[in-house]
Amino acid sequence: MALIDTFGRTIRYLRISVTDRCNMRCDYCRPSVEPMLPDHAALLTLEEIARLARLFVGLGVERFRLTGGEPLLRRNLLSLARELGAMPGLTELSLTTNALLLARFAHDLRAAGVRRVNISLDSLTPEIFARITRGGDLAQVLAGIDAALEAGLAPVKVNMVVMRGVNAHEIPAMIRFAARRGVVLRFIETMPIGDAGSLFPERFISAGEILGIAREAFGQDPLPAEPGVGVGAGPARYFRIEGTGAEVGVIAARSRHFCDTCNRMRLTSRGGLVLCLGAMDVVDLKTPLRAGASDEALMAMIRAAVAMKPARHHFDETVPLPSPTLNMVSVGG
Ligand code: GTP
Ligand code: 5AD
Ligand code: SF4
Repeated sequence: MALIDTFGRTIRYLRISVTDRCNMRCDYCRPSVEPMLPDHAALLTLEEIARLARLFVGLGVERFRLTGGEPLLRRNLLSLARELGAMPGLTELSLTTNALLLARFAHDLRAAGVRRVNISLDSLTPEIFARITRGGDLAQVLAGIDAALEAGLAPVKVNMVVMRGVNAHEIPAMIRFAARRGVVLRFIETMPIGDAGSLFPERFISAGEILGIAREAFGQDPLPAEPGVGVGAGPARYFRIEGTGAEVGVIAARSRHFCDTCNRMRLTSRGGLVLCLGAMDVVDLKTPLRAGASDEALMAMIRAAVAMKPARHHFDETVPLPSPTLNMVSVGG
């Protein structure tokens, strides 16, 4: 029986965070003061992740996305990918990465059953990129994008968190870049989450304004994309910018929330089930798992959690979001 919440939404998409470590430090994602070094025993083992994942498939989940932190930092990620990718009933296994290590992993990921990747890239200017990510190397990420394309991890999507006064002026350059490389670009509204949410008020720029900048730069209204562009399970709406060949998506988490069609939940690397990115309520699955709970008992807990999924987030009413405990880096976006 499928997982249906009290608002009639069916959960078919699980985002699985495999680590809360990252080899970048994007200031909108990682807190200024890190809670403590991740304690290894606190992390779910790969076997525990696979067991929970199997239960989710049994409950009707069809798509998994591996996230982090940076998922490529998790040791033996490929063997987990192979196991998840082979689960009957799963229609898609994908990954969200900052791509620093992707050139090394792209082919093996594809061979392990990962179908496609979404890559975070907020700037094409090395200095700005390094500032946002606190030290990230743009050239390595660009090499990662090329490797993903070459490995056939298609479509490759590039996520740009658009921030006023930081990178918004690069919107036209990013559109040209996407067209040139044949990747789908998605503009993401900054979300006021966790500690980094304090940067939110001065930086926020709405999807409407983002599309306006594209209109001004290319002299055309972005038009709705052909059906099929940007296939996926996420909340982006897609457009094409005529004359450029670019396909772009917007993820308007705040200005036009998509909660009524939400189809997903998130499993953290420490075994917490996050019901909603906005509410940050977490149901602990690790403790019962380690106490020897049966599959049936765990499935009942998952069902009970789904029944508690809130109707929507309240990013537009509470700024910044009152969640000092959970940061984007631990939830995986
Ligand atoms: P596709 O299947 O390719 O559409 O993936 P996706 O867009 O779901 O995944 P990705 O990891 O690339 O996420 C892109 C952005 O969308 C991230 O910033 C996520 O936090 C955001 N996002 C995804 N799901 C939700 C959601 O339920 N609520 C909110 N507010 N944001 C979300
Ligand atoms: N607001 C919006 N998007 C964010 N991401 C991380 N933190 C935030 C935030 N505060 C994005 C990353 C990545 C995706 C998984 O989540 O850029 O592409
Ligand atoms: Fe790392 Fe991605 Fe967060 Fe940047 S957005 S700190 S790359 S997890």
